[in-house]
Parts: sequence; structure tokens; C-alpha cells
Amino acid sequence: GNKNIQAKLVLLGDMGAGKTSLVLRFVKGQFYEYQESTIGAAFFTQALSLNDATIKFDIWDTAGQERYYSLAPMYYRGAAAAVVVYDITSMCAYISERESTDRRYVVHFLQDSFERAKKWVQELQRQGHPSLVTVLVANKADLETKRQVANEVGEQYARESGLLFFETSAKTAQNVNELFYEIGNKEIGK
Ligand code: GTP
Repeated sequence: GNKNIQAKLVLLGDMGAGKTSLVLRFVKGQFYEYQESTIGAAFFTQALSLNDATIKFDIWDTAGQERYYSLAPMYYRGAAAAVVVYDITSMCAYISERESTDRRYVVHFLQDSFERAKKWVQELQRQGHPSLVTVLVANKADLETKRQVANEVGEQYARESGLLFFETSAKTAQNVNELFYEIGNKEIGK
């Protein structure tokens, strides 16, 4: 008969990786060049029909800024699926400043979004539900000329860590529906 499934889905990833943009592309078919940064978290719902099943997603789009990291467990607790997003154009930068008082160098690392994504994956593997479906998403695939993370690097990390993997563009819609349909299929198969 007809299956009705409700699934909580959470998006995690560095600020600016494109979490909100992916959700808006999926839910509304829209994209904004100047998408505002999320504060706290945003909530969306979207239903999908797959064969003889209907799956209703409750989507929590979390804020990527570091000051919100500690809130993440509230959103991934009880989640059926997690989408961990990084930006293929983001690279590592650091600032080194000399401290005049004791002549030490202080180095502040700003991690790139792929490193941040790996941290979320590790946290989910430690704290998330064992049946959590985790998807690694390499976003902004339309910006090929600015690419810093090779497709194979993301793909290999995903394979080694037992994650699904998609390269997407919220801007061109590349692979966005495919990503959510694949999650839907996994939920139906659970
Ligand atoms: P926080 O809310 O700060 O955590 O950011 P976020 O991960 O939700 O990113 P958001 O969706 O706000 O996107 C950040 C910026 O990247 C925006 O200016 C978007 O227009 C842009 N952007 C998002 N996805 C893509 C994409 O696939 N391609 C391109 N070219 N730009 C994108």
C-alpha cells in the first residue's frame, strides 16, 4: 500500500557553503546571488512522491557561523538524514601576527570549508544516530575555474567514510533534486 514517511533532515557546513541556497533551490526552485547568512537555523518542509511512497521532509537549515556550532546537536538529534555541505572554491587561509611582548608568533587558522565538513562528519559519526543517512555535498560546481577541492578528493573521502556523495550547484540546479530524491529512496528503504 501507500507508505507515508516523515523524515527530519539537517544541513550542516561552513558559512557560505550554500546550505540555504540548496534548500531554496529544492523547495522553491529559486536562487539568490546575495543570499543572507542564516541566524540560528531556518525551517522548511517539502514532500516528495517516490513510487508508492510519499516522504515529507522536515528540513533544518543550520547557521554555518562558528558561534552557532554548539547548537548543532539540537538539530541533528533525531534526524534521519544529514547533508554536510562544502564549497569547492573555498581554500585555507591563515593570519600570522607577531606578538611584541614575548616575541612569539601567533597563527590563526581559518579552515577551508572541506576541512569543516570533515569535522561535522566526525561529529555525526560519534554523536549521530547509527541509522543516520549522511550525504557529503560539494557545492558551487558551476564555479569550475575557481575550484580548490578536486571532485576525486571529496568522492574518496565520502567512500572511505561510508557517505553518499554529490557535486551540486544551487545556482544551476545541477544534482539538487537528485540529492534529495536519493535521500528519500534511502529513507523508504530503511
Ligand atoms: P550560512 O547561512 O552563513 O551558514 O551560509 P549558507 O551555507 O546557507 O550559504 P548561502 O546559501 O547563504 O550561500 C552563500 C553565498 O553563496 C550566496 O551569495 C549564494 O548566492 C552563493 N551560492 C550558494 N550556492 C551557490 C552555487 O551553487 N553556485 C554559486 N556560484 N554561488 C552559490
